[in-house]
Amino acid sequence: MGKIPVLLLIFGAFFSALPERARADSVIVGALVFNVESFGSPGTTNFEIDNFTGSNNLGVFPVSDNLVFLNANLALTCGNATCVTDLGGSSAAFVLGDIAPPSATSQAFSAFDEFSQAVFTANFNLTSLALTDGTTFEGSPSVSFTLLPSSGQFLVAGVDQGTISDSAPVHGGDHYAGKFPEDGSGFADVGGHFLPYDVGNFDFSSKPGLTKCDQEEAIYSLNQNVLNARPTTAEKELIAGWYANNNGSRCSNVVHVLDEFFVPKSCQDAQSQNPQVDIVGFYQKANSRSCRTCHVAMIEGYNFDHYANLTSANTDRFAIVGFDNGINICGGSLHFQRDHMMPNSLVTFNRFWLSADPNANITPLPNQLELTSNFFLATSGGFGSFNANPPCPTPAGTTP
Ligand code: HEC
Repeated sequence: MGKIPVLLLIFGAFFSALPERARADSVIVGALVFNVESFGSPGTTNFEIDNFTGSNNLGVFPVSDNLVFLNANLALTCGNATCVTDLGGSSAAFVLGDIAPPSATSQAFSAFDEFSQAVFTANFNLTSLALTDGTTFEGSPSVSFTLLPSSGQFLVAGVDQGTISDSAPVHGGDHYAGKFPEDGSGFADVGGHFLPYDVGNFDFSSKPGLTKCDQEEAIYSLNQNVLNARPTTAEKELIAGWYANNNGSRCSNVVHVLDEFFVPKSCQDAQSQNPQVDIVGFYQKANSRSCRTCHVAMIEGYNFDHYANLTSANTDRFAIVGFDNGINICGGSLHFQRDHMMPNSLVTFNRFWLSADPNANITPLPNQLELTSNFFLATSGGFGSFNANPPCPTPAGTTP
């Protein structure tokens, strides 16, 4: 257990600094540590794998279920000739079998052996995990973790270590587990989806042939391609809604004209039940302009075209939907990687923030920040760490 006390100290400080109930993208389930096992000549080193789940979570790690690492495997790449001789090749894979908590498994080597990387892979017996805070985490069925030298060419025993995490399989694909494995394992198909083509988000030329009306029919065909490439339910509904009325009147002689003012049924229904909240305004002027294209192509919990996913009671993705959206847009979270993450593309991000700046937005176009914050303040009672209106000051550096 050479380096584990150090790891625990680091994570102890990390976890206790987080007051918020955040929906994490991954949870730590174990550790891979390169240890000095015995000194002397030549001495031994070992790779130790710890399972930090179940009652072995030590009160610091988040998973309270007994998660078993099935068919665990450690693939090592040699960094020197001694290692090649000892392993019988420049790389070798070691079958570790199943690792249930609280076991720590290790694999020992001569201290003369140098390694340039260690890759741990395993399948998990559970994808739905109970966490110690009473919430549930929907994770991936498998893990691949690569330990690389923190400096220099070789792993240093007593220094190099890393955590093994279970990732929520949501990052841009239905079963994309945080990153694409570099070692050839995993499916090539990450479950990605085409994004629909939204006329309302494009600028068109005034040149004949390139005007919006001239392009509508071609864009309709592109959206038919989206429908032929395994769309999400939300994409199917959106594209059907866009072309439901064949808005011919807006472009004479064009059959398929996208309805830029489309509002999904769930938002229309919510609007009639909550006339005091500008649900349609938020949908038509902020969500559709800055969030919709990506979010309809994601797993259901992130589909902001279904009103339930935007309200706190019914979502499997957000602990507090107003809070999560607020920090992702405005910042203010100690999870700095979540701050200002949305909208998740530069042009959209700039346009979103510039709409809130009267010096830049002289047209003026609708203030998207205000529409979004008013929506979450009214429906969730909060927007990020801010409860006042205007809720989040524009931080330095976030607007161009
Ligand atoms: C360019 C694509 C794109 C755009 C535009 C976009 N998102 Fe996202 N959003 C994503 C992706 C991809 C994820 C999942 C990323 C992850 O968890 O790492 C995500 C995740 C989120 C999350 C959850 C993040 C977390 O930390 O749990 C929130 C909240 C969110 N988006 C809100 C918004 C809002 C609100 C808008 C519009 C103002 C928006 N997004 C625009 C792609 C986008």
